[in-house]
Amino acid sequence: MSETELNVSLLRKLILHFYKGNLNFFLMPKDIETMDWSWQQAFLDATVNSKLIQEFPISSKFASLFLKKIIQTLEPNQEVHDDFYTQLCKSMKDLNKDGFSYRHYVIGNDINNIITIKETRNLVVNGTTGLKTWEAALMLSDWALCNQDKFENKTVLELGSGVGFTGITIGKLCNLKSLILTDCHDEVLKTISENISINFPHCKQETNKDITFFKAEDKSLGVMQLDWNAIKDLPNSIVPDILIGADIVYDPSILKPLSNVIQTFCARNKDLEVYIASVIRNEETFNGFLKTLDELNLDHENVELSKSVYIEWDESINKCLLKIKAKLK
Ligand SMILES: C[S@@+](CC[C@H](N)C(=O)[O-])C[C@H]1O[C@@H](n2cnc3c(N)ncnc32)[C@H](O)[C@@H]1O
Repeated sequence: MSETELNVSLLRKLILHFYKGNLNFFLMPKDIETMDWSWQQAFLDATVNSKLIQEFPISSKFASLFLKKIIQTLEPNQEVHDDFYTQLCKSMKDLNKDGFSYRHYVIGNDINNIITIKETRNLVVNGTTGLKTWEAALMLSDWALCNQDKFENKTVLELGSGVGFTGITIGKLCNLKSLILTDCHDEVLKTISENISINFPHCKQETNKDITFFKAEDKSLGVMQLDWNAIKDLPNSIVPDILIGADIVYDPSILKPLSNVIQTFCARNKDLEVYIASVIRNEETFNGFLKTLDELNLDHENVELSKSVYIEWDESINKCLLKIKAKLK
């Protein structure tokens, strides 16, 4: 490999680590030799100095750890670009600001194909688990991108969307007709709308009584409040072809209301396909969900999930993608 090639491949590798929030890299002395001033400039331009990161900053904690690691690696061997120190000071100053930052999910390792999501790093904020992206959301989105033909020209509704990673990714990258993201929590719904606006900057926003629509050229994304405990409020006009949900089977008290919602949509469309992705943390809760589905005359089967393809997710976890359908009478 020539030195120029090494330089570019190292640049690509470290840029991907930065966007993926991954500190797990090791630099060999021969790598560090190629990280001269112009290499550093190119790295800074593609990351902390880029328009995307300036407008939508990543977590200060991760940024400071990443920059510190690069500076410490470079210092003994290279003159370090001033901007590394400037950016490190900036992120350290913001370190105690808790709350939201932006994550940039790289799709298919293509740095030009990024979904940006405003979210927190905390598991529960303001009484909801919905303000961060969970592992099942990554799994379900990856599976959808591998099975795009299923979504072709379809109307899709997502239950318990959280900050909206799954709905936005499928909505942006699959050729569907429309997708409605739903949740019960006001702050979550507000964050979904912000995230749609970030990822569809040219869409037109229209609000009717129940749904806020974001209309892009050939498709529309909607945001709607849907509380599984209040399905009587569900407008009759909503009849999706596909229902999806990620990490929504976790609380024994919502298994029945959640299953009722699924059953209601199945009754509206006998061909409805339902895909629910879960990380199984508690077998009893998960089996309770399967039992409730059965009691409501809903069939389920496991869809095979093997490896990450477009979006990295943790393959080692206990997981399940269920396909649910109304039982044939
Ligand atoms: C663990 S989070 C998963 C969020 C997102 N799907 C993901 O995987 O990143 C569970 C989501 O379900 C929503 N949720 C919980 N109970 C609900 C209910 N009764 N009705 C509607 N949504 C609910 C929460 O607000 C939260 O956004």
